Amino acid sequence: MTNTINDIFTYHNETKHSQQRYARSLGYMDWATQPDPFRSYKGATQVPLPLSFNNTTAPYHLIFDDELPAAPLLIQSISQFFQFSLGIAAWKQADSNKWALRCNASSGNLQPSEAYIILPPLDKISTQCSLSHYAPKTHALEKLCDFDSSFFDNLEKGSFLVGLSSITWREVWKYGERAFRYCSLDAGHAFRALQVSAMILGWKVQVISDTKDAQLSQIFGFDQANRYIKEEAEYPDMLLSISPLKKQELSLDTLSQDLPTKYEGSAYILSRSHQAWEMIEKIEKASFSDAIQREEVQSLPVPRLASLESKELVLKRRSAQMMNPNNASISGEQFYTLLNSVKESMDGFENSANLVLFVHEVQGLEKGLYLMLRNKKHLSSLKRLMRKSFVFEEIREDFYLLEKDDFRARSKSISCNQDIAAEGAFSLGMLCEFSAQIQEFGAHRYKELYWECGAIGQQLYLEATALGISATGIGCYLDDAFHNLLGLDSNQFQSLYHFTIGRAIVDDRLMTLEPYHHLD
Ligand SMILES: Cc1cc2nc3c(=O)[nH]c(=O)nc-3n(C[C@H](O)[C@H](O)[C@H](O)COP(=O)(O)O)c2cc1C
Repeated sequence: MTNTINDIFTYHNETKHSQQRYARSLGYMDWATQPDPFRSYKGATQVPLPLSFNNTTAPYHLIFDDELPAAPLLIQSISQFFQFSLGIAAWKQADSNKWALRCNASSGNLQPSEAYIILPPLDKISTQCSLSHYAPKTHALEKLCDFDSSFFDNLEKGSFLVGLSSITWREVWKYGERAFRYCSLDAGHAFRALQVSAMILGWKVQVISDTKDAQLSQIFGFDQANRYIKEEAEYPDMLLSISPLKKQELSLDTLSQDLPTKYEGSAYILSRSHQAWEMIEKIEKASFSDAIQREEVQSLPVPRLASLESKELVLKRRSAQMMNPNNASISGEQFYTLLNSVKESMDGFENSANLVLFVHEVQGLEKGLYLMLRNKKHLSSLKRLMRKSFVFEEIREDFYLLEKDDFRARSKSISCNQDIAAEGAFSLGMLCEFSAQIQEFGAHRYKELYWECGAIGQQLYLEATALGISATGIGCYLDDAFHNLLGLDSNQFQSLYHFTIGRAIVDDRLMTLEPYHHLD
């Protein structure tokens, strides 16, 4: 085993929460150094984007069936694409505190993900190719460079690139050493938010697999001196090609060569002071490595129930802070719609995560522990490794009852004692094939596993919203307490994200303000 892969396993084990010890963090909220959730570049040309509230968008259930015509690439469509993915969806206010919520869910609402866009020459943006940062607060592009390149000449008309990156410090501030996990989950949420927003425009998203992190850093200029202070650096996550086509061949070498070596603008500072965590530096370095190497797969379209206009749905998605235990029950149809919505691969590569579900209140299903396979190949290993007493009764294709019981108390205690895990209709853990994946595909795979789980989370939020129920991501869970419950005592499978779905109780002491009222 190489040192890098060892570093991944060490980080993962050291950042587990357990009843005896939570992963190391500051232990209190240092409000004076809370990082700004909005990055902005001083000296970059601002290109305001026209708000898209009045655009008509297709009903949500139609965006998945590949038949929507592709919108032309214009400043208006770019604007809608970002507004309904990473843009502000609402402001909340309690007394003098006011905070923005976005279309993409984010751990602690700390918003570590940043997005960059590379465009061909486009009216109102640039007569040349351009690279910009998306600034959600002002809903503007911050142009970092214009450049001439033939890169787009061989691509389908209407194609462009989007890069996602993370500012780990934003999560480190609150979560200490476990922060890298949250950043990677958030990147998965941001990815799925962008993908859904692209689908609303009839566009397809392709994850570019054969790019190493060092090349992404060069393209987005993260390696340029004075771009930002080192404590607030960004590391690259993924590069996406967005176009009317599902898949096209592209080589980034021309782009890499044609980009200038120094971009405009330097980032405003996010915090007055910072904490350094050696473990975070190590995991960033260890996972900064290879390209994605997994096998590609085709996904099947999933039928859905009729629903709201898609823009309303993405703006309406919110996390439940409290679930109503007296009205938790959902129908079997709602339950299977939710599960089916995340069954197929979302990124075009083979699935690793399966869902282990604590079913509390689903009509037609007995309370108990269930398994939904997202990768059929895992069944025999899971049967071999999990508790011998589990019955593995197949209720539907790829959906198994493991044990009948009331798991509400266990679901709550595994979720760091959060009531939301017990008071909804069901909760779940995303159980990923782990050690073999990292050994086979390398250290980079650690991030990818979280991206897959984050994307499942974002999709479950949207699907729950479409069904008129609520959801919340659960990043705070006791890793090995969950594994022990399942009888797993090695790291062949690990749970990387938890989730709960039910009916929310809305806190009406909070005032809700319109998303872009501050720009009026
Ligand atoms: C990766 C991740 C982990 C989260 N973990 C928790 C959690 O453990 N408990 C909780 O109440 N909310 C959790 N949340 C929900 C966030 O707090 C919520 O997304 C954020 O406050 C923004 O609110 P919104 O989702 O309504 O936009 C998590 C969200 C994400 C994306």
